[in-house]
Amino acid sequence: MSCPIHPKPLKNKASLLFTFFIKRNSWLNGLFERSYSMKTGKVNLPGLEIVVANELPLVKNIMVDDVAKYPKNHLLHELLEPLLGDSIFTTNGCTWRKQRDLLNPAFAHARVSKVFALMKQSTDDMLKRLDKVEENSRFDMDAEMTFVTADIIFRTIMTAKLDADSAQKITAAFTRFQNQSLKISMLRMFKIPLIFSYKERQRQQAAAEIRGALEKVIRPRYDAVTRGEETESVDILSSLLLTRDPDTNERFSFKEIVDQVSMLFLAGHETSASALSWAFYLISEYPEIQQEAYKEIQTVIGDREIEAKDIKKLSLITAIFRETLRLYPPVGFMMREAAEEVTLRDKIVKIGKSVVVSPWLIHRNKDNWDRPHNFEPKRFLEEQKTPLKSKYLPFGMGQRVCIGASFAMQEAVLIIATILQRYRVEAIKGFEPQPVGRLTIRSENGIDVKLFKRKK
Ligand code: HEM
Repeated sequence: MSCPIHPKPLKNKASLLFTFFIKRNSWLNGLFERSYSMKTGKVNLPGLEIVVANELPLVKNIMVDDVAKYPKNHLLHELLEPLLGDSIFTTNGCTWRKQRDLLNPAFAHARVSKVFALMKQSTDDMLKRLDKVEENSRFDMDAEMTFVTADIIFRTIMTAKLDADSAQKITAAFTRFQNQSLKISMLRMFKIPLIFSYKERQRQQAAAEIRGALEKVIRPRYDAVTRGEETESVDILSSLLLTRDPDTNERFSFKEIVDQVSMLFLAGHETSASALSWAFYLISEYPEIQQEAYKEIQTVIGDREIEAKDIKKLSLITAIFRETLRLYPPVGFMMREAAEEVTLRDKIVKIGKSVVVSPWLIHRNKDNWDRPHNFEPKRFLEEQKTPLKSKYLPFGMGQRVCIGASFAMQEAVLIIATILQRYRVEAIKGFEPQPVGRLTIRSENGIDVKLFKRKK
């Protein structure tokens, strides 16, 4: 069986230059065969020098043991600032610690199982939309995954339902933000001032549109808390609204709340949408595995509705999702910078220079995984017994590990099981998704499939 799609590595530096100027829509197009197996590498782009750490002990050192030496990169902060402000995703030091302490309880396991019912409301609505799709027609799973994951975030964070019109507007604005951000990062590399850039204006506008949509939901709740009318924590937004800074006893300002909610919205739906879309691409390409997953659903759930207790029993579906996260990790690279001069093997990294850890490279390195480009979900039924350490890090690792990992796993297994219980998902002959690496790894041309309702 052939491997699922991935961009062909480059042969030499001349082809890198070609790629940089012709196919510069994605960093995935700039990788060489040896990028996958190197222990460390240096990327010299105009105006930007990056050391890539691939060797597992180095990765652990950067992400876990010596984490204070490798804070989050200031470039990432600058790039995301119009949308996320000073949110937990890009802050460092005490600011980050406070934000993390505040958000941790909301994502604790018990809380995650509590939000199952809200996630289920979203998947029920998703089924209503899928039921309207004409059988045997071309259906873009990527668009649906973006909608349902955004709706789940709206409901669980803010107890608000996302209507189709707003979902479409927010998604379109976010696509514009991502596209322009990539172009802006190129301009920055060449040290071109952004003040008069049309792309920068478009990017700021897109960020303002998304923040505006979120503000509409947050504003009445914020005012209710200020007037003392909302006093109990009903969702993640209320825990943000009600909490007080232990040092100053002040509540978060409106802007600070919008920063954190924008970040949760972005980190929480863009990543899950990416991974779920790739999962359905793989499921459609491997019908035998899909059939086994269907059998698992029949054994565990049958034809009744899915309940929270079923999730952990769906081990093959969990393995399919984990293998998807290995092959297409939504966060393909994690950017840090050196807080002091450090040496990574033979490479000296000067203070302030960039260091990258790339799940995309680590997950496809043949020293870490047998047949690394193949889709073999059952490896996770075996691997679950042994710790995966730093060779598997779709959710990052160490103190900056993803706060929403269990939330995302529950959501993904629920969505995959809900769709496979009712539909057979078929690949479309001749359709090939085009993976592009931007803020997350998405398919440039969507994930087109056909849906066939299963006979009861
Ligand atoms: C499949 C889905 C997801 C993937 C693959 C994913 C991946 C990641 C990764 C790799 C990081 C670490 C980035 C770094 O160290 O530079 C991260 C951080 C984070 N993620 Fe996720 N994520 C997912 C879903 C979610 C969800 C559902 C939420 C919340 C609702 C969330 C919230 C966050 C937050 C707040 C951080 C920052 C944590 C910190 O810096 O302390 N993520 N995520």
